[in-house]
Amino acid sequence: MAEKRKVCLSGSGLTKVFGLGRQKTVAVDHVDFNFYEGEIISIVGESGSGKTTLAKMLLGLLNPTEGEIYFQGKKRDIGTHKKKKEYWKSIQAIFQDPFSSYNIFHKIDEVLLDCIYMRVGRKIPYATKLEMMTKACSFVNLKFEELTNKYPFELSGGQMQRLMIARVFLLMPRILLADEPTSMIDACSRATILDMLMQLRNEIGMTIIFITHDIGLAYYVSDSVYIMEHGNIVEHGSADEVILNPKEAYTQRLINDVPKIYEEWDLSTV
Ligand SMILES: Nc1ncnc2c1ncn2[C@@H]1O[C@H](COP(=O)(O)OP(=O)(O)OP(=O)(O)O)[C@@H](O)[C@H]1O
Ligand SMILES: [Mg+2]
Repeated sequence: MAEKRKVCLSGSGLTKVFGLGRQKTVAVDHVDFNFYEGEIISIVGESGSGKTTLAKMLLGLLNPTEGEIYFQGKKRDIGTHKKKKEYWKSIQAIFQDPFSSYNIFHKIDEVLLDCIYMRVGRKIPYATKLEMMTKACSFVNLKFEELTNKYPFELSGGQMQRLMIARVFLLMPRILLADEPTSMIDACSRATILDMLMQLRNEIGMTIIFITHDIGLAYYVSDSVYIMEHGNIVEHGSADEVILNPKEAYTQRLINDVPKIYEEWDLSTV
């Protein structure tokens, strides 16, 4: 039975150039990609390879210098504030630095209520709002009673990242972009969070785009993998194709950089 996969987000010749003349940086250089609905996609590359810049263009936070983004088959149009707000109902992000994701003057209740307002509007009874907030917090193993009336900066880094996922749970976007979402979390909570995200994909078919340096993580979580080097996509395909049979020396190098805990350390080369 051939399942027809629907492209939900794609790019054609997508380019971002920062600065002018000798200061010029081509952060993303004519990249093409097709992300399918319900897929988990990883974008892997070294620091400075253009991953976050690409993510910001996908989110509509940066304008491409050249090229096009297609959303659900049509050229994306976010020309007005209203259209942008509508687009953000479909695509949301979790960023590397959870501190930058919150307005520090807003209490956690407001952070969560804003998500509810964005998705279902304001005209619902407080009891329903409370129920939604409690459910979202328990999805990420947080207790709403312990968070109410607090500010995001009163949480630990890991709790803050889980709060970000609670927001995703309330917003239920079709596409989630996660830029190194687990960087501040210990290995155990990290696995839990990855499982939470995978659960969202399995239950509601959310498309998840992971951005990471960690090719091991990419292999563990994703269906497709895109490898970025100096703003270019140098290799892409299924996780098995790309990681088990890399064609590019750069991909091979990223794989070799993964520390192998079962190998004894050779201190003589240090
Ligand atoms: N606002 C900006 N102005 C000028 N140059 C920028 C800007 N943002 C990014 N760059 C440059 O674009 C290139 C790509 O940066 P980007 O942040 O996309 O990399 P990255 O792959 O996300 O790296 P990391 O893994 O370290 O997060 C870098 O050379 C960076 O210095
Ligand atoms: Mg980055």
